[in-house]
Amino acid sequence: MATEPTELDTHDVELERELSSLLDVERFPPPEGFRKRALLSDPKVYEEAEQDWQGWWAKQAEELHWFKKWDKVLDDSNPPFYKWFVGGQLNVSYNCLDRHVEAGRGDRVALNWLGEDGSERKLTYADLLADVERFANALKDLGIKKGDVVGIYLPMIPEVAVAMLACARIGAPHNVVFGGFAPEAVRERMEFAEAKVLITVDGASRKGTITPIKQAVDLVVGDLESLEHIIVIAAHGTPCEMRSGRDVWYHEIVAAADAKCPAEPMDAEDPLYILYTSGSTAKPKGILHTSGGYLTGVTATHRYVFDLHPDEDVFWCAADVGWVTGHSYIVYGPLANGATGVMYEGAPDYPHKGIWWEIIQRYGVTIFYTAPTAIRACIKWGAEYPRKFDLSSLRLLGTVGEPINPKAWLWYHKIIGAERCPIVDTWWQTETGQIMITPLPGITETKPGSATTPFPGVLADVVDEHEGKTIKEGQGLLVLKRPWPAMLRTLYRDDERFVETYFKRFGNTTYLVGDAARRDKDGYIWVIGRIDDVVNVSGHRLSTAEVESAIVAHESVAEAAVIGQSDELTGQAICAFVTLQGTIEGTTEIEEAIRETVAAHIGKFARPKRIIWSNDLPKTRSGKIMRRLLRDIAEGRALGDVTTLRDPAVVDMLGQAIATAPEED
Ligand code: WTA
Repeated sequence: MATEPTELDTHDVELERELSSLLDVERFPPPEGFRKRALLSDPKVYEEAEQDWQGWWAKQAEELHWFKKWDKVLDDSNPPFYKWFVGGQLNVSYNCLDRHVEAGRGDRVALNWLGEDGSERKLTYADLLADVERFANALKDLGIKKGDVVGIYLPMIPEVAVAMLACARIGAPHNVVFGGFAPEAVRERMEFAEAKVLITVDGASRKGTITPIKQAVDLVVGDLESLEHIIVIAAHGTPCEMRSGRDVWYHEIVAAADAKCPAEPMDAEDPLYILYTSGSTAKPKGILHTSGGYLTGVTATHRYVFDLHPDEDVFWCAADVGWVTGHSYIVYGPLANGATGVMYEGAPDYPHKGIWWEIIQRYGVTIFYTAPTAIRACIKWGAEYPRKFDLSSLRLLGTVGEPINPKAWLWYHKIIGAERCPIVDTWWQTETGQIMITPLPGITETKPGSATTPFPGVLADVVDEHEGKTIKEGQGLLVLKRPWPAMLRTLYRDDERFVETYFKRFGNTTYLVGDAARRDKDGYIWVIGRIDDVVNVSGHRLSTAEVESAIVAHESVAEAAVIGQSDELTGQAICAFVTLQGTIEGTTEIEEAIRETVAAHIGKFARPKRIIWSNDLPKTRSGKIMRRLLRDIAEGRALGDVTTLRDPAVVDMLGQAIATAPEED
C-alpha cells in the first residue's frame, strides 16, 4: 500500500512560511463569488439524488440527445452485469458534434491545439464534425463495420479525437493505447482485442526530436492475423514503409471519402470503447465501456464537478488522451457539453518549464485539471515559472490520478489559484469511467488531501476487509455499493475475470475498488492507495507483475520482484529486486540493459528507478515472494510477521543491499 510521499521543499523561505501557516486551515469553503454563480450551490442536491438515485441519473441522461428514449433506466436483474437506459438509442458522436452544430454553435472552438513547435490549430465544432464524417466514411470504405475493434496509437494531435469520434459514429469500439507505451504493448493490446485496424502516425514529436512511430510499430505487428489495415497520419514526413494492400495514408483515404456520414443509432449498451489497464497480473485488463450510461456519467460529472458554463469557460485537462482521463475529460465529457477545450502536444517542461502557464494565459483557460505528480514537478522547478504569466482567467482547479499531499494542494491553491479558485480533488478509475468521489465546487468545503464525498447518486463506503462491515470512522477498503451509469460492463471477453476481480470479495452488488481509504469524523473520504499489486507512478497505473515479466525477459535475469516505493516526486516509483543467473555479477551495464528491456516491453515510464541485486528473495515455504516484506524493507519500516519466511537470513542481506543501491535520476 502506498504511503504518503515526503514533502518537497520549495526552497523559498517566505513561501514555505506561507504554506505552513495554511497547513493549519482545516477547511476551505467555496469562495462567495464562485458560489453565487455556480450551477450547483444548494446542498439539497445530495438529498434529492439520494431519494431517487435512478431518477437522478435519468434526469442527467435527458440532457443528451436520444434517437429513441429508453424503456428502463436500470436493469439490475443479473448483477454484476448491469444495463443502463435499456431500449434507448443514441449516438455518442452525434451528441458531441452534430447537436451543437444544429443548434447554431458550429463556429464555437471545440479544440485549441498547440504543437510542441508552437504551431497552432483551432478546430470549431463544425470543423470537427466535417473531419469526423469523412474519416468515419473512410473507415467504412476499408470494410470496418459496427462491432469491429479499431486500435489507436497516436500522440496528442487533433486526429486522435477525430479518430475516436469517427469510431463512435459507426459503432466500432476503439482501443486507444497511450503514446508512451512501447510498440510491444501496442501489439499485445491489438492481439487481445483482435483489432482490425490500427491508426497511427509516421512520427511523433517529443521535446524537439521526432521519433519514428510507424516504423517501430511495423517491427512488432507484422504477424497479427486480425490486423487488416494500418492507417498512417503523415504528421512529420518521417520516412516509413507502406505495405501494399495493408497500409494506407490517412489524408488519402479521407480525401477519397464522402463528406456526409449520418450518425448511426446505437443501443445504449453498445460498446463505445475498450481501454486496457493494469491489474494484479501481468495481463492487462480490457475495460469495456458502453454508450448511453458512459456518456451520461461523463457529461453530468464534467458539467457539475467543473461547474461548466460552456459559453464562457475554456477547459483544459492536461492529461494524455491515451488514459481514461483523456477519454472522459478531454474528449467525451467536454465535447458533449459543448465546451471549448485545449490540447497541448508536448511535455510540461518543453520548450520551457513555464509552458503550461503560458498556455493558460494564451487561451484564457478558466478551468484546469491535472495530476498531483505534475504539480509536484512544478513545485520542484519553482514558483518563478507560473509567476511569469497572467493566470487571472483561472476560476477552478482540479486534480486526479493519485492522492495529493496537503502541501502540494496548498501550493496549487496559492501559486496557481491565487487563493481564489476552489480545488476539486477527483477520485475515480478507468473502471468507473466517470468521477465518483469529489467536491462540488459551489457547495463542498474542501480539506487538502481529501477527495471529500461521493458525487450525488453515488454510494461509496469504507468497510473492514474481512466481513465488509461499514467503518464509520477509520481506515478500511473502499467499495461502491450501487451501480452507476459509466461503470465498466465487463472485462473484454472475460466475464469471469470481471466477476472475480471486482465482485468476489463482497458479493455481486458490492464493487471492490482496490484502494484503501480512511473516513474522518465528518464523513470525508481520504483515499490512501492501492491494496493490490498495482503501482501508481506519476499517475500511470502499472502492475508489478507486468514489470517483473519485462525484467525477466532480459537474458541475465533469473528472477525479479517489483514493488512500488514512496517517491516525493512521482508518488510511487518502481523498485526492483533482481536475482541474476548463475554467477553473473550485477553491474551498471546490466542495470541499464534491464531498464532498456522494460522500456522496450512496456514504455519508458515503467523503467525501475532502483534496481537492487539480491542473491535470493524472501519467500514463504511454499515459494511465494513476500512482497509485503520487500515493501517494509524498502521503506525502512519495522518488519511485520516473518514467521512464514523460508530463510530469515535473506532479510538482513536485502537490508544491506538496499542501503547501498543507487537511484536513477
Ligand atoms: C488512484 C485514473 C487518490 C486510485 C482516473 C485509483 C486516486 C487509481 C485519485 C485509478 C484521487 C485516482 N485520490 N487516488 N483523486 N484518483 N486515484 O485507472 O488508486 O488510471 O484506484 O484512473 O488511481 O487509476 P486509473
